[in-house]
Amino acid sequence: MNDTARPKRLHIKTFGCQMNVYDSERMADVLAPMGYVASATAEDADLVILNTCHIREKAAEKVYSDLGRLKVLRAEREAAGAGRMTLAVAGCVAQAEGAEIMRRQPAVDLVVGPQSYQSLPDLISRIGTGDRVAAEFAADAKFDALPKARAVSGPAAFLTVQEGCDKFCTFCVVPYTRGAEYSRPVAAIVDEAERLAAQGVREVTLLGQNVNAYDGAGPDGAPWSLARLIRRLSEIAGLSRLRYTTSHPRDMGEDLIAAHGEVEALMPYLHLPVQAGSDRVLKAMNRAHTAASYLELVARIRAARPDIALSGDFIVGFPGETEADFQATLDLVEAVGYASAFSFKYSRRPGTPAAAMAGQVEDEVKSERLARLQALLEREQQAFNRSTVGRTLPVLFERIGRNPGQIVGRSPYLQGVWTQGPADLIGRIAEVEIEGSGSNSLSGKLVVKSAEEAAALEAV
Ligand code: SAH
Ligand code: SF4
Ligand code: F3S
Repeated sequence: MNDTARPKRLHIKTFGCQMNVYDSERMADVLAPMGYVASATAEDADLVILNTCHIREKAAEKVYSDLGRLKVLRAEREAAGAGRMTLAVAGCVAQAEGAEIMRRQPAVDLVVGPQSYQSLPDLISRIGTGDRVAAEFAADAKFDALPKARAVSGPAAFLTVQEGCDKFCTFCVVPYTRGAEYSRPVAAIVDEAERLAAQGVREVTLLGQNVNAYDGAGPDGAPWSLARLIRRLSEIAGLSRLRYTTSHPRDMGEDLIAAHGEVEALMPYLHLPVQAGSDRVLKAMNRAHTAASYLELVARIRAARPDIALSGDFIVGFPGETEADFQATLDLVEAVGYASAFSFKYSRRPGTPAAAMAGQVEDEVKSERLARLQALLEREQQAFNRSTVGRTLPVLFERIGRNPGQIVGRSPYLQGVWTQGPADLIGRIAEVEIEGSGSNSLSGKLVVKSAEEAAALEAV
């Protein structure tokens, strides 16, 4: 199918969440049969795709500055006789403001929304004739039409099982950019996971904007819960580790909580965003939970899996947030004790209900609250990491480290762990005695000496 002698180079730059990371990999899979091979830089690329994020204003604006730079690069490349560079914008900004992108940056050849990636070969061949193409609104069966084969790049992989959101938190653009909640059928997910395992993948993170709202059709046509899907995937030989993200507290069912205590492959780490600790703010956010109901949920999860590492997302400076409301967020963070967290200043997003609310908070106030929250979260993360020092943890090694002889992997709690060790352990799980901890990673010494020894231990 390759229509030129020289392979065509594809550079994809990914912004935003893990679902965009997954989508970027799938775009590369779709384009591979057209002869596109991945390139680490834009300079020598025949096709550049920006896979964009619309979640906060800064993320969305970044697209336009990147496009400005790419336009210059493209002109230089073409002046040097190196051939045409096609510029495409994909992802959530493409979906939310495709027409605006086309208007603001005439250098853009193609705008394509997240539901249309299976059509990329067709869309790109249309540009060949000099057209500018916008395909942000098509919503045909994305997953069915994507190729089954996936290129894997290491022992840990993402797998999208659910896409879209029906929750309509008042600050959030995702229900508009990713559409309504859709769950892939069980059989398609099992097939993809088996293929990944056959390619050496040991850990799969199931992705969804609200992954625990998963209700895909099982083989009998009846909907399966995420817990049931996880139990099924845990039977796949070689898949030693399963994770899922992101969860909404509202959809944390009893069977999923129970799975954390019962399914060995399900890792003891849970990203469970709460956003804020004040019930008044939570109500204005349309979060459908209170601080107390969240804490009670955390207690039930910890009863099932006492060592679970909890992570969260937080927004400070939501419209109407007072100092007392913010203090309630700090109190909740103290009460939970997070192992990791992501926190943001509220960003006013066009078209969302909160953007029009009274009581928008000054930027300096947001910055000051964010600094206080992040200082507390940082202390908690360090404390969690310190609590694992002295323990021996199974680590899935993913890559070689920065210093000679170093290998780097992840603990069950998603902490980065580095140690001195042989490179042939990459792709394997081996025990590490944890000796040191920082805010972002752990260090320790290997309990096994070689990949053979690790394999023998894993086999028992
Ligand atoms: N579906 C996930 C993730 C949504 S986006 C969930 O429900 O948790 C990831 C995070 O970005 C959100 O959890 C929220 O903390 C943050 N976020 C979303 N919209 C935002 C906005 N307008 N301003 C600041 N942060 C926002
Ligand atoms: Fe956005 Fe809320 Fe949906 Fe998460 S649950 S994607 S924060 S609307
Ligand atoms: Fe951003 Fe879209 Fe993900 S807005 S966070 S890339 S779902």
